Amino acid sequence: MAVSGSEASVAKARRNVTITAAIAGLAGLLFGYDTGIIAGALLTITPEFGLNSLQAGMVVGAVPIGAVGGAWFASRGADRYGRRSLILLSAAIFIVGAIGSAVAADSFILIVSRVVIGLGIGVASAVTPVYISEVAPSEMRGSLVTFFQLAVTVGILAAYLVGYAFTDVNEGWRWMLGLGAVPALILAVGIVRLPRSPRWLMMQGDEQGARAALERVRPAGTEAIDLEIQEIQSTTSPDTSRWKDLRQPAVKAALLVGIGLAILQQITGINTVIYYAPTIIQSTGIDSAGSAILASLGVGIINVLMTVVALRLLDQVGRRTLLFIGVSGMSLSLFALGVAFVSGMPETVSTLLAIGSLMLFVSSFAISLGPIFWLLNAEIYPLSVRGKAAAAGTMTNWFFNFLVSLTFLGLIELLTETGAFWFYGTIGLVTLWFCWKFVPETKGKTLEQIDAIFERRAKN
Ligand code: BGC
Repeated sequence: MAVSGSEASVAKARRNVTITAAIAGLAGLLFGYDTGIIAGALLTITPEFGLNSLQAGMVVGAVPIGAVGGAWFASRGADRYGRRSLILLSAAIFIVGAIGSAVAADSFILIVSRVVIGLGIGVASAVTPVYISEVAPSEMRGSLVTFFQLAVTVGILAAYLVGYAFTDVNEGWRWMLGLGAVPALILAVGIVRLPRSPRWLMMQGDEQGARAALERVRPAGTEAIDLEIQEIQSTTSPDTSRWKDLRQPAVKAALLVGIGLAILQQITGINTVIYYAPTIIQSTGIDSAGSAILASLGVGIINVLMTVVALRLLDQVGRRTLLFIGVSGMSLSLFALGVAFVSGMPETVSTLLAIGSLMLFVSSFAISLGPIFWLLNAEIYPLSVRGKAAAAGTMTNWFFNFLVSLTFLGLIELLTETGAFWFYGTIGLVTLWFCWKFVPETKGKTLEQIDAIFERRAKN
């Protein structure tokens, strides 16, 4: 699309849209912070409340289960009340849940508060990538939506650091859980200053509002904005979408990609590493808590750094290439991690191999399935069903997140560590095939051009 307006106005528009995406992306912090904090917090919650393993599992699992519910709510709310309002709501819900968990007097209140946290996270993760994809110009969309994933990784790292800071503090877990309210508060203050999604406004029939929203994040001069409005208009129908609209052939073709990646992103085992990195390192035989802590810090740092790399590459090399490289690296490192547990290996060799494989695995995830699932899930559905379809992908992702964390230790009992990691590695190979066969390249295309890809697929 030709860009009119002076260079200064182009630079200003790029800056505005980047700030918009960065503020909305803060929603990812809530998600990441909770993912990273719970394992550490649980170490002291368990003795204090005398939790048995079922109750401890419920404290952890309450969030992903709540998130499935939150994403379900977002499936209706995102179209009805708008993307921006829902992000604000997610921050408010999260604050209530974080404070509730911090002051919980018993395990029941704690579990209920964590379901509330999950509801907030579910809403945020269903709506934020969609919001960013709808305000972003096509040539920057990959990077800007990845701000969400970047915030997830920063949240995980921040949680590791907060976790260590409060380990020896009396009832430190209350601080660990309660501090999650801080980023939520920043998000709430920031989000109300941002424009509403122009595409959602068009869906409501508010062309003037959509134009005004676009003017805040596009270069001055009406020609390009006119074109964008026309393009949105050509694919907009009023918000009357129902679940059954997801059965249209083109939507089904897109859902195959979104739901497929939602499942594969989880069942290749990323959260076993995020939750259990220290345990994994310790079980290679090394007996120092220090190295185990360093391992999880290393995982956290590399996750952030490689997500920054992805952010720079997604709109240059494209989604498919990064998926091929990243998923190959994930598979390879999972097989290598399995080898590290083969008995009879000298301890230093197996520890080094385990640490190296963990780092390669996380780096590879961070440039591929990590950001690209959230990106594609926000950009591949037609506007008329985008809220519902993206929520369906999000619900699936959280459900499988829950399932993998629940089954990981059992899988190790059944197959040993080596067997479990080779199992995940094999799923990595299936993921490669899936990406090659079904995932289209969406780099540089407008959301409306992406619709056309799936329309064509549905006809063939
Ligand atoms: C995944 C999370 C994971 C995180 C790690 C996200 O894209 O959805 O389940 O914990 O990446 O960075």
